[in-house]
Amino acid sequence: MGDEPRINHVLKPVRNELDAEYLLRIIFDYTTKIANERSLQRVLVLMADMGRQMIQADRCTVWVIDQSRKELFTTVAHGVTELRIPIDSGLVGYSIMSGEPLLIEDATTDPRHNTDSDRLTGYVTRSVITVPFVSSSGEIIGAYQALNKLGTDGRFKPQDLEYLTLAASYAGKSLESVMLQEEIVSTQRELILALGEIGESRSKETGHHVKRVAEYSYVLALALGLSIEEAEHLKMASPMHDIGKIAIPDSILNKPGKLTEQEFELMKTHTVIGHHMLGGSNRELLRSAALIAYQHHEKWDGTGYPLGLRENDIHLYGRITAVADVFDALGSDRIYKKAWELERIIELMREERGRHFDPRIIDVFFSKLPTLLSIRSKYRDEFPTPPS
Ligand code: C2E
Ligand code: SIN
Ligand code: SIN
Ligand code: FE
Ligand code: FE
Repeated sequence: MGDEPRINHVLKPVRNELDAEYLLRIIFDYTTKIANERSLQRVLVLMADMGRQMIQADRCTVWVIDQSRKELFTTVAHGVTELRIPIDSGLVGYSIMSGEPLLIEDATTDPRHNTDSDRLTGYVTRSVITVPFVSSSGEIIGAYQALNKLGTDGRFKPQDLEYLTLAASYAGKSLESVMLQEEIVSTQRELILALGEIGESRSKETGHHVKRVAEYSYVLALALGLSIEEAEHLKMASPMHDIGKIAIPDSILNKPGKLTEQEFELMKTHTVIGHHMLGGSNRELLRSAALIAYQHHEKWDGTGYPLGLRENDIHLYGRITAVADVFDALGSDRIYKKAWELERIIELMREERGRHFDPRIIDVFFSKLPTLLSIRSKYRDEFPTPPS
């Protein structure tokens, strides 16, 4: 596993005996930072740094269990890269499966040591400590893995195991709560996508429309300069834009031909209905979703519905989702029309700059077109569109 460049903090000069004061400072500094951290990736990196400094290890990794895939994963290089290994691999896998901490002075002679990564990278793992983390309900959720003591003879001592066990017990609670938090967020995300798909599937719109709209919105938001957090927020809220369609009668929603004026008037109410459905909540995410449902058919020049808002009176989320939604709707088969050719779609997007769409978003749309098109082919609907 030693194949990733590490950007751990520069270590203090190696001391043979860490004095108690120094140790307490490390524990205090890190546990404070870790307790305030809401990102699992950053918690993993901080915990690894803490363990590494406490026992003066050359490398230190915090692995957590992904039960659904029977794997251990971690992030290195400050959250940029994710690594995965089988749940039972190597010494750390042994510790995870058995619940026992290990202190191995010379791993090269231990049959449980996984030598593959050493062979691949040329990194020589000599001494290893592994310490499992136990959740408050008694389940093992992950483990520390430390490789090679710095200085001296390169071997860990029983005291190092004690220190790392201490680190595990101090930071374990924060790790557990951040893992639960991630679980909740990903559950929310799945529920929202499922909800959004109800709106689409009633109207027999195929497959991945809401997924694509979410991904396009994210790319556009980032390119417009929104923060990653806000772009993710929009990505989670935008799939619900058409949820109000569930209240539109089947005879209209699935009418093969063009709608009459009256039918279209009724169809337009999907915006107001969606707004009512989602607007009752105090959750920020659902409030944004309600806003998007309400405004995704407003047009920059004021000719949209339901309110006929113009320009910046339309919330940015509504303006972004409008671009993402129409771009995707044009490229998809609908009960009432065939998917358009890409060239024709591009032409419409350009023509509607400053009319239907915010000119700034269209500029960003064109600068990000390659990315948008790769999302489009990644989430292509199961039934390829026949040429029209
Ligand atoms: P949708 O099918 O998801 O389309 C979303 C938006 O994409 C449309 O909003 C429109 O701005 C754009 N769009 C989609 N297809 C075309 C097209 O062939 N030409 C042009 N110029 N724009 C297109 P819009 O028009 O407000 O429609 C809202 C929803 O009303 C549509 O969502 C669809 O569910 C329904 N709808 C609209 N026209 C018809 C129709 O003639 N027949 C039926 N059955 N439904 C329609
Ligand atoms: C690392 O490069 O430190 C992660 C994997 C390992 O320690 O074996
Ligand atoms: C490694 O596989 O390189 C780390 C030691 C182990 O868990 O076997
Ligand atoms: Fe809509
Ligand atoms: Fe849509």
